[in-house]
Amino acid sequence: MPEWLKDAVFYEIYPQSFYDSNGDGIGDLQGIIARLDYVKSLGCNAIWLNPIYDSPMKDAGYDVRDYKKVAARYGTNEDARALFEACHKKGIHVLMDLVPGHTSDEHPWFRASQKAESNAYSDRYVWTEGAFQGIADHLYVAGASERDACYMLNFFVFQPALNYGWGKVTEPWQKRWDDPSCIATREAMKDIMRFWLDMGCDGFRCDMADSLVKNDEDDDKIHVSMIWKNIRQMLDEEYPETALVSEWSNPRQAVTNGGFHMDFYLDHWNNGYNTLLRDYEPHPDDDRSYFRKDGGGDINRFLDDYLPKYYSSRKDGYISFLTCNHDTPRATRTLSTDELKLAYAFFLTMPGVPFIYYGDEIGMRYQKLKSKEGGYQRTGSRTPMQWDHSRNDGFSAAEKDMLYLPVDESAGAPAVSDEVNVKGTLLETVKELTALRHRYEDLQADALFRPLYAKKGEPFVYERGNMVLAVYPDSETRTVETAEIKGKKAVYSIGQVSLDDDRLKMEGPSFVVLI
Ligand code: NOJ
Repeated sequence: MPEWLKDAVFYEIYPQSFYDSNGDGIGDLQGIIARLDYVKSLGCNAIWLNPIYDSPMKDAGYDVRDYKKVAARYGTNEDARALFEACHKKGIHVLMDLVPGHTSDEHPWFRASQKAESNAYSDRYVWTEGAFQGIADHLYVAGASERDACYMLNFFVFQPALNYGWGKVTEPWQKRWDDPSCIATREAMKDIMRFWLDMGCDGFRCDMADSLVKNDEDDDKIHVSMIWKNIRQMLDEEYPETALVSEWSNPRQAVTNGGFHMDFYLDHWNNGYNTLLRDYEPHPDDDRSYFRKDGGGDINRFLDDYLPKYYSSRKDGYISFLTCNHDTPRATRTLSTDELKLAYAFFLTMPGVPFIYYGDEIGMRYQKLKSKEGGYQRTGSRTPMQWDHSRNDGFSAAEKDMLYLPVDESAGAPAVSDEVNVKGTLLETVKELTALRHRYEDLQADALFRPLYAKKGEPFVYERGNMVLAVYPDSETRTVETAEIKGKKAVYSIGQVSLDDDRLKMEGPSFVVLI
């Protein structure tokens, strides 16, 4: 386990929307370099960078055309190298986004794979044995290739599935997971990883990490896990300080079996994480999220889902909480700044390794926008960073109609310049929380988490190592008694909280850290 993860706080940067250094309307790598002091000022010491590879950008870069080349709109490979170096000088680690499950249909591997004549890439993707032979229960494309076969899709129609084989084989054309062609795909991914690690990156966020082997569910996805374990072994031997985080949301499979250092706790309908911030299907007006003030939420809905995941994986690696990501509506869609403060306080004091999505620290809003680059409803969470109230919110010097996406011009739209060094703002609260986490090892990745008091409508009291914390999102005053708080004193609080022997009084929405 890389030591640096124990106290890591990540910042997710969507490169096209962070900072445009050359005035073409789109964010770029030099722009990120220019703003590293800001990242550092947040208390973030690691970055997850969304894909920067050459791509037709039909899925914002998750459709890779060349894994070893930076997309021209972001800069060059030399800029990537410069970014890694600049980050390291400031004590920041950088994870790139690895897209191992599929490529763009413009990738040269795929172009070769589509050819009728057999060649080195014929088995790089999942193909059936005839143009009229589909794939039961899976998405596939028929009639688009010279080759007399259908190919399987991994996501959108332009993202053919790379071939890592099948767990349970039911058709003669399906390769077993240990077929040499499947091993060759895995080795090709390792080669790509080495390429960027040698340039200075510190690891990868692995896109749809659970998707590699098909029909693997009956076997608890063990064959997918074995691929990752094999990759982890390579990293341990050749690049022991690098880190992997999975888009999987099943820490037992990803972390314990697969060897990932971290696994994202994703926003999946009705899972524990979803009940905290986005519990509003079918409509945002009916938000019952735990962090919604007086929303009637129940922390036990979170705990029932989280605790088994936590206990089954905590010896092997970490669960990663996110404030949001580029696929999820920003929590400001339904939560106020004050509600977010408590949510962030919770995420930043939980075990594992937390991730802050760019702009969440100032409360950027979710926008209703036309889809851009395959974003669809996700587009509203991908708008330019709001630095100040100058032209284009300080994001870019370009003409407005050149911007990657429109900046938020609605009344009261937040900006860094309004919040920085202003006590009580969301931005300053985030900084206080990350500072607290860096100060106390008990608040970092490893210290044991244990719920002490968890009742619907009451403050939720929990232990981290020797510290006790409480969070309470409702407005009615409540007092809880627990022996564990006896003799402790508050080192940080939000809202009105007081302590009397073993009694903790929380007057309205509040949060406290006791030592
Ligand atoms: C998950 C990524 O986060 C998302 O943005 C992308 O569209 C899909 N995987 C496909 O790669």
